[in-house]
Amino acid sequence: MADIIAIDGPVASGKGSVSAGVAKVLGFHVLDSGALYRLAGTACVKEGVSLDDQAAVTKVAENMKPLFKDGRIYLNDEDVTDVIRTEEAGLNASQIAAYPTVRDALFQLQRRCAQEPGLVADGRDMGAVVFPDACLKIFLTASAESRAKRRYNQLKEKGIDSKIDDLVSDLKERDRRDTERAVAPLKPAEGARILDSSELTLQETIDKVLSWYREIR
Ligand code: C5P
Repeated sequence: MADIIAIDGPVASGKGSVSAGVAKVLGFHVLDSGALYRLAGTACVKEGVSLDDQAAVTKVAENMKPLFKDGRIYLNDEDVTDVIRTEEAGLNASQIAAYPTVRDALFQLQRRCAQEPGLVADGRDMGAVVFPDACLKIFLTASAESRAKRRYNQLKEKGIDSKIDDLVSDLKERDRRDTERAVAPLKPAEGARILDSSELTLQETIDKVLSWYREIR
Protein backbone atom coordinates (compact mmCIF):
# COMPACT_ATOMS: atom_id res chain seq x y z
CA MET A 1 0.00 0.00 0.00
CA ALA A 2 1.40 3.39 -1.04
CA ASP A 3 2.14 5.92 1.71
CA ILE A 4 -0.55 8.56 1.97
CA ILE A 5 -0.21 11.97 3.56
CA ALA A 6 -3.65 13.52 4.11
CA ILE A 7 -3.77 17.30 4.44
CA ASP A 8 -7.16 18.73 5.36
CA GLY A 9 -8.14 22.23 6.31
CA PRO A 10 -10.31 25.26 5.61
CA VAL A 11 -10.40 27.45 2.51
CA ALA A 12 -7.08 29.02 1.53
CA SER A 13 -5.15 27.49 4.40
CA GLY A 14 -2.35 26.75 1.92
CA LYS A 15 -3.17 23.04 1.46
CA GLY A 16 -2.55 23.10 -2.29
CA SER A 17 0.86 24.77 -2.15
CA VAL A 18 1.98 22.75 0.87
CA SER A 19 0.85 19.49 -0.75
CA ALA A 20 2.64 20.31 -3.99
CA GLY A 21 5.84 21.22 -2.11
CA VAL A 22 5.80 18.08 0.03
CA ALA A 23 5.00 15.85 -2.97
CA LYS A 24 7.84 17.37 -4.98
CA VAL A 25 10.43 16.56 -2.30
CA LEU A 26 9.15 13.02 -1.78
CA GLY A 27 8.39 12.31 -5.46
CA PHE A 28 4.76 11.56 -4.54
CA HIS A 29 1.58 12.05 -6.57
CA VAL A 30 -0.84 14.82 -5.60
CA LEU A 31 -4.63 14.72 -5.27
CA ASP A 32 -6.37 18.09 -5.13
CA SER A 33 -9.78 16.74 -4.15
CA GLY A 34 -11.34 20.21 -4.09
CA ALA A 35 -10.73 20.40 -7.84
CA LEU A 36 -13.11 17.45 -8.33
CA TYR A 37 -15.92 19.23 -6.45
CA ARG A 38 -15.17 22.39 -8.40
CA LEU A 39 -15.25 20.40 -11.65
CA ALA A 40 -18.58 18.80 -10.80
CA GLY A 41 -20.10 22.21 -9.99
CA THR A 42 -18.68 23.72 -13.16
CA ALA A 43 -19.97 20.81 -15.26
CA CYS A 44 -23.47 21.41 -13.83
CA VAL A 45 -23.38 25.11 -14.66
CA LYS A 46 -22.20 24.33 -18.21
CA GLU A 47 -24.93 21.73 -18.69
CA GLY A 48 -27.61 24.01 -17.26
CA VAL A 49 -28.25 21.69 -14.29
CA SER A 50 -29.60 23.46 -11.21
CA LEU A 51 -27.30 23.07 -8.20
CA ASP A 52 -30.43 22.66 -6.06
CA ASP A 53 -31.36 19.47 -7.92
CA GLN A 54 -29.43 16.83 -5.99
CA ALA A 55 -30.31 13.90 -8.26
CA ALA A 56 -29.32 15.73 -11.43
CA VAL A 57 -26.10 17.07 -9.86
CA THR A 58 -25.20 13.56 -8.73
CA LYS A 59 -25.64 12.24 -12.26
CA VAL A 60 -23.31 14.91 -13.58
CA ALA A 61 -20.70 14.02 -10.92
CA GLU A 62 -21.01 10.32 -11.75
CA ASN A 63 -20.62 10.81 -15.48
CA MET A 64 -18.03 13.56 -15.76
CA LYS A 65 -14.71 12.53 -17.24
CA PRO A 66 -12.18 15.23 -16.49
CA LEU A 67 -8.86 15.04 -18.30
CA PHE A 68 -5.72 16.14 -16.44
CA LYS A 69 -2.98 16.92 -18.95
CA ASP A 70 0.24 18.94 -18.70
CA GLY A 71 -0.97 20.83 -15.64
CA ARG A 72 -4.29 21.77 -17.32
CA ILE A 73 -7.78 20.38 -16.64
CA TYR A 74 -10.30 19.69 -19.41
CA LEU A 75 -14.01 18.93 -19.33
CA ASN A 76 -15.34 17.63 -22.66
CA ASP A 77 -12.30 19.04 -24.47
CA GLU A 78 -12.79 22.49 -22.90
CA ASP A 79 -9.92 23.89 -20.81
CA VAL A 80 -11.53 24.75 -17.46
CA THR A 81 -8.31 25.17 -15.45
CA ASP A 82 -8.97 28.83 -14.69
CA VAL A 83 -12.77 28.69 -14.58
CA ILE A 84 -12.76 26.22 -11.69
CA ARG A 85 -10.48 28.49 -9.62
CA THR A 86 -12.91 31.40 -9.37
CA GLU A 87 -14.63 32.23 -6.06
CA GLU A 88 -17.96 31.45 -7.71
CA ALA A 89 -16.76 27.94 -8.63
CA GLY A 90 -15.61 27.50 -5.02
CA LEU A 91 -18.99 28.48 -3.61
CA ASN A 92 -20.78 26.21 -6.10
CA ALA A 93 -18.44 23.37 -5.12
CA SER A 94 -19.24 23.79 -1.44
CA GLN A 95 -22.98 23.73 -2.20
CA ILE A 96 -22.89 20.41 -4.03
CA ALA A 97 -20.25 18.96 -1.66
CA ALA A 98 -23.01 18.88 0.97
CA TYR A 99 -24.85 16.17 -1.02
CA PRO A 100 -23.82 12.70 0.25
CA THR A 101 -24.58 11.18 -3.17
CA VAL A 102 -22.13 13.56 -4.82
CA ARG A 103 -19.47 12.65 -2.25
CA ASP A 104 -20.10 8.96 -3.00
CA ALA A 105 -19.78 9.60 -6.73
CA LEU A 106 -16.34 11.15 -6.24
CA PHE A 107 -15.11 8.66 -3.65
CA GLN A 108 -13.68 5.96 -5.97
CA LEU A 109 -12.14 8.56 -8.24
CA GLN A 110 -10.16 9.78 -5.23
CA ARG A 111 -9.26 6.32 -3.89
CA ARG A 112 -7.77 5.40 -7.26
CA CYS A 113 -5.15 8.14 -6.81
CA ALA A 114 -3.41 6.14 -4.07
CA GLN A 115 -0.52 4.92 -6.17
CA GLU A 116 3.15 4.11 -5.60
CA PRO A 117 5.41 5.61 -4.49
CA GLY A 118 2.93 7.67 -2.48
CA LEU A 119 0.25 10.33 -2.49
CA VAL A 120 -0.29 13.68 -0.86
CA ALA A 121 -4.06 14.22 -0.79
CA ASP A 122 -5.57 17.56 0.16
CA GLY A 123 -9.15 18.50 0.92
CA ARG A 124 -11.64 18.46 3.77
CA ASP A 125 -12.15 14.76 4.50
CA MET A 126 -9.00 13.09 3.22
CA GLY A 127 -7.93 11.81 6.65
CA ALA A 128 -11.38 11.14 8.07
CA VAL A 129 -13.24 9.55 5.14
CA VAL A 130 -11.35 8.95 1.91
CA PHE A 131 -8.00 7.79 3.30
CA PRO A 132 -8.57 6.79 6.94
CA ASP A 133 -5.51 4.55 6.44
CA ALA A 134 -3.19 7.53 5.73
CA CYS A 135 0.13 7.21 7.57
CA LEU A 136 0.19 10.94 8.35
CA LYS A 137 -2.88 13.14 8.83
CA ILE A 138 -2.57 16.89 9.10
CA PHE A 139 -5.16 19.55 9.77
CA LEU A 140 -3.69 22.71 8.27
CA THR A 141 -5.23 25.92 9.46
CA ALA A 142 -4.58 29.68 9.65
CA SER A 143 -6.49 32.76 10.76
CA ALA A 144 -9.28 33.99 8.44
CA GLU A 145 -7.37 37.23 7.81
CA SER A 146 -4.12 35.57 6.77
CA ARG A 147 -6.05 33.14 4.56
CA ALA A 148 -7.91 36.01 2.86
CA LYS A 149 -4.63 37.82 2.29
CA ARG A 150 -3.10 34.74 0.69
CA ARG A 151 -6.12 34.24 -1.54
CA TYR A 152 -5.95 37.95 -2.51
CA ASN A 153 -2.32 37.57 -3.58
CA GLN A 154 -3.02 34.35 -5.48
CA LEU A 155 -5.82 36.01 -7.43
CA LYS A 156 -3.71 39.11 -8.06
CA GLU A 157 -0.96 36.95 -9.52
CA LYS A 158 -3.52 35.62 -11.96
CA GLY A 159 -4.56 39.16 -12.85
CA ILE A 160 -7.90 38.84 -11.02
CA ASP A 161 -8.97 41.88 -8.98
CA SER A 162 -10.67 41.24 -5.64
CA LYS A 163 -11.44 42.94 -2.34
CA ILE A 164 -10.07 41.56 0.92
CA ASP A 165 -13.39 42.16 2.70
CA ASP A 166 -15.29 40.17 0.06
CA LEU A 167 -12.75 37.37 0.32
CA VAL A 168 -13.04 37.24 4.11
CA SER A 169 -16.82 36.96 3.90
CA ASP A 170 -16.67 34.38 1.07
CA LEU A 171 -14.28 32.18 2.94
CA LYS A 172 -16.22 32.50 6.19
CA GLU A 173 -19.36 31.46 4.31
CA ARG A 174 -17.59 28.45 2.81
CA ASP A 175 -16.07 27.55 6.20
CA ARG A 176 -19.54 27.71 7.70
CA ARG A 177 -21.04 25.44 5.03
CA ASP A 178 -18.13 23.00 5.18
CA THR A 179 -18.14 22.82 8.98
CA GLU A 180 -21.89 22.64 9.53
CA ARG A 181 -22.85 20.12 6.86
CA ALA A 182 -24.15 16.78 8.07
CA VAL A 183 -21.93 14.62 5.91
CA ALA A 184 -18.12 14.66 6.15
CA PRO A 185 -17.99 18.03 7.94
CA LEU A 186 -14.70 19.86 8.04
CA LYS A 187 -12.93 18.94 11.27
CA PRO A 188 -9.60 17.38 12.20
CA ALA A 189 -9.56 13.62 11.56
CA GLU A 190 -8.92 11.37 14.51
CA GLY A 191 -5.18 11.32 15.10
CA ALA A 192 -4.55 14.36 12.90
CA ARG A 193 -1.76 16.73 13.85
CA ILE A 194 -2.84 20.37 13.88
CA LEU A 195 -0.59 22.76 11.99
CA ASP A 196 -1.35 26.48 12.26
CA SER A 197 0.45 28.25 9.43
CA SER A 198 -0.64 31.85 10.26
CA GLU A 199 2.89 32.76 11.30
CA LEU A 200 4.79 30.36 9.04
CA THR A 201 6.14 30.81 5.52
CA LEU A 202 5.20 28.25 2.88
CA GLN A 203 8.67 26.67 3.11
CA GLU A 204 8.49 26.44 6.91
CA THR A 205 5.10 24.75 6.63
CA ILE A 206 6.39 22.26 4.04
CA ASP A 207 9.44 21.52 6.21
CA LYS A 208 7.21 20.87 9.23
CA VAL A 209 5.14 18.31 7.30
CA LEU A 210 8.31 16.64 6.00
CA SER A 211 9.80 16.44 9.47
CA TRP A 212 6.62 14.78 10.77
CA TYR A 213 6.70 12.34 7.87
CA ARG A 214 10.34 11.48 8.54
CA GLU A 215 9.52 10.92 12.21
CA ILE A 216 7.22 8.08 11.28
CA ARG A 217 9.11 6.67 8.27
O1 C5P B 1 -10.25 22.98 -1.56
P1 C5P B 1 -11.18 23.82 -2.41
O2 C5P B 1 -11.40 25.18 -1.87
O3 C5P B 1 -10.77 23.81 -3.84
O4 C5P B 1 -12.59 23.05 -2.35
C1 C5P B 1 -13.77 23.61 -2.86
C2 C5P B 1 -14.94 23.12 -2.04
O5 C5P B 1 -15.11 21.71 -2.26
C3 C5P B 1 -14.79 23.26 -0.52
O6 C5P B 1 -15.27 24.47 -0.04
C4 C5P B 1 -15.60 22.10 0.01
O7 C5P B 1 -16.95 22.45 0.15
C5 C5P B 1 -15.53 21.06 -1.08
N1 C5P B 1 -14.61 19.97 -0.73
C6 C5P B 1 -15.09 18.95 0.06
N2 C5P B 1 -14.29 17.88 0.33
C7 C5P B 1 -13.06 17.82 -0.15
C8 C5P B 1 -12.54 18.87 -0.93
C9 C5P B 1 -13.33 19.96 -1.21
O8 C5P B 1 -16.22 18.99 0.53
N3 C5P B 1 -12.31 16.74 0.12
